[in-house]
Amino acid sequence: MYGVLPFTTRMTIVRLESGGLWVHSPVQPTPERRHAVERLGPVEHLVAPNKIHSLGIMPWRALYPSARVWASPGFSKRHPDIAVDALLTNDTEAPWSSEIDHCVMDGHAVLDEVTFLHKPSKTLIITDLIQKHEAAGESWVWRGVKRVAGILGEGGGVPLDIKLSLRDKAAMRRCIGTVLTWDFDSLIIAHGHCLQSGAKEEVRRAFDWITGA
Ligand SMILES: [Fe+2]
Repeated sequence: MYGVLPFTTRMTIVRLESGGLWVHSPVQPTPERRHAVERLGPVEHLVAPNKIHSLGIMPWRALYPSARVWASPGFSKRHPDIAVDALLTNDTEAPWSSEIDHCVMDGHAVLDEVTFLHKPSKTLIITDLIQKHEAAGESWVWRGVKRVAGILGEGGGVPLDIKLSLRDKAAMRRCIGTVLTWDFDSLIIAHGHCLQSGAKEEVRRAFDWITGA
């Protein structure tokens, strides 16, 4: 879900073997966040994993002009004002590719999401395709809406609106198949509960409506 629902968004940071930082889906850089990031290392890469998660790209780029911006295939069409160094395709070879694999998730009418695998930690990084929004502190109205949308709590999964706006089921099935061949056990998502283990089974479960597994 995106647009009108109230929810938090997670920024994910990988410290590469070089010591530089790969920053996925950056949120607004408050002074506290900036200082916390700078303690980890120099910001080398900013990643917009789909065309919706554009919020922090420009402000972070302004703070760290030498950082390279990588974005999803449809990003520049939606955000022509945001400078991008490279739009990701499945053939993209990036300086981080030996540590982080990626797959463009084809087949959706709107969402041009790119999924990532941090190989050393066996961690899958998903942005909007799986959502497990925190229920605590949420009003009963929003809890109800999110439950119906299939994104509430640890039992959440692929949002209903994403399911309903799928354009090419076979293409998405092939992409899920690729992701499921990857070696991962942990899952980081942008909205809600992450998993430290058992992630492959959870991803398989989340997509069983499309894979038929
Ligand atoms: Fe999102």
